[in-house]
Amino acid sequence: MKPQPKAKSSAKPGSLGVLILAAGEGTRMESNVPKVLHPVGGRPMLFYGLRLANALKPAGIGVVIGHQADLVQKEVEAMCKGWLNRPITFIRQKHPTGSGGAVLEAIPFLKKFQTAVVACGDTPLLTFETVYALVNTHREQKGQVTLLTARLATPKGYGRVVRSPLGEVLRIVEENEATPKEAAITEINSGTYCFEVAPLLEAVKGIEPQGPKKEIYLTAALELVRQKGGRVNAHVCGNAEESLGVNTRVQLAHVERVLNRRCLERLMLSGVTIVDPSHTYVDADVEIGQDSIVLPGTILKGKTQIGRSCHIGPFTYIEDTALGNGCEVRNSYVAGARILEKTTIGPYAHVRPGTVAGPRARIGNFTEIKAARIGFGSKVPHLSYIGDADIAEDVNVGAGTITCNYDGVEKHKTVIGAKAFIGSNVNLVAPVKVGRGAKIGAGSTITEDVPEGALAIARARQENKSK
Ligand code: UD1
Ligand code: CA
Repeated sequence: MKPQPKAKSSAKPGSLGVLILAAGEGTRMESNVPKVLHPVGGRPMLFYGLRLANALKPAGIGVVIGHQADLVQKEVEAMCKGWLNRPITFIRQKHPTGSGGAVLEAIPFLKKFQTAVVACGDTPLLTFETVYALVNTHREQKGQVTLLTARLATPKGYGRVVRSPLGEVLRIVEENEATPKEAAITEINSGTYCFEVAPLLEAVKGIEPQGPKKEIYLTAALELVRQKGGRVNAHVCGNAEESLGVNTRVQLAHVERVLNRRCLERLMLSGVTIVDPSHTYVDADVEIGQDSIVLPGTILKGKTQIGRSCHIGPFTYIEDTALGNGCEVRNSYVAGARILEKTTIGPYAHVRPGTVAGPRARIGNFTEIKAARIGFGSKVPHLSYIGDADIAEDVNVGAGTITCNYDGVEKHKTVIGAKAFIGSNVNLVAPVKVGRGAKIGAGSTITEDVPEGALAIARARQENKSK
């Protein structure tokens, strides 16, 4: 009989694809939110896998989605906007039949490539360097599969790598199927693999459902590849913590701690003092300039940018805020603001979105600022509420001053000219304008505009009555 001609592959020789498995239910998270969308390090978990995939410069990226697929797809599209520069394909897995089932659904996608990296959407600590090294090992050793493994002191929950006495990788045994001897193996499967696509596809089609949920384990493909004469190699990850996966919220917190530590180390090595890294929480995209000091209890979120020589904390929350050089923020909550250089905030200030303050401004104790400009050198040092206001330069706002910006229906604006002096405990009933250099007596309720340079007093005269 004539040998059957091999089915023609559409794969370009040497082409690389990346497939991310993200269709699982994430049952152990006990959550209504899909596991891969849980935030960690200020980003949805899946972001890290996508960023890594993009960095490998593959010919295509596939994401297998299933559980809450519409939501996951929408979020992936949103989180990739503006930076992902590789074609992305969403693959729907209708039923959660296991990691092997996910790969089966992805066959039409995988067929386009000669080699594929398959990774899980729940291992956000993997670095580009490690996965790049995995691909290199795969290419150098010319096997059909190269598995990324790690040695964990407590391998609980992971598939164990069973090797022959000579060290060849024989198979992966999932924990629930492991004998006590196999369970004692400390080398684990990280869930990231580099495959030659043709033998992978042949193998996944032959996987029998197994385990308590009758799932199609991708890990079973390794044994099938070997049975067909293929070689399975392993690349052991030098930094075991990178392979940590997130199945529960306990592991989520663990991964959060690692991402935070990496971020703090990057900042410290670039010249920022972090007084106590174990009590400082910084999102991945936060930038801090040289010689700034961050005290314990500080949380820096989102797109916060902090200049040089700033003093932040203790016990301070700053989100999506830009801070110029030489600013101080103590025991305060600041969000969505732009704070210009040498401005000081706190202790115990609440600075809300739309605020622009400085340079050299002061927002003091127990003061709330919302959507207001506090100009060059102007001060709101104590116990005030300033909302929807425009305060020019060198203004002093006395303790207890309030902008009455809301009439129950609409918000109105308060405008204060340069060098004005607002006495203590003044109510500024907006809309209202206080002219340049004007003065307002303490305790006044200002309902009408105050001309430039005028002194306004709007309060009842004191009477001293005898008994
Ligand atoms: C898996 C591996 C295990 C490895 C561990 C590393 C298998 C059978 N086991 O176990 O050897 O040590 O990862 O973290 O693969 N998924 C789908 N569709 C499904 C089921 C799962 O896309 O039907 C996706 C999940 O979204 C997840 C990944 O596959 O990203 C792995 O699934 P998960 O259930 O987390 O597997 P583990 O038990 O962690
Ligand atoms: Ca997992």
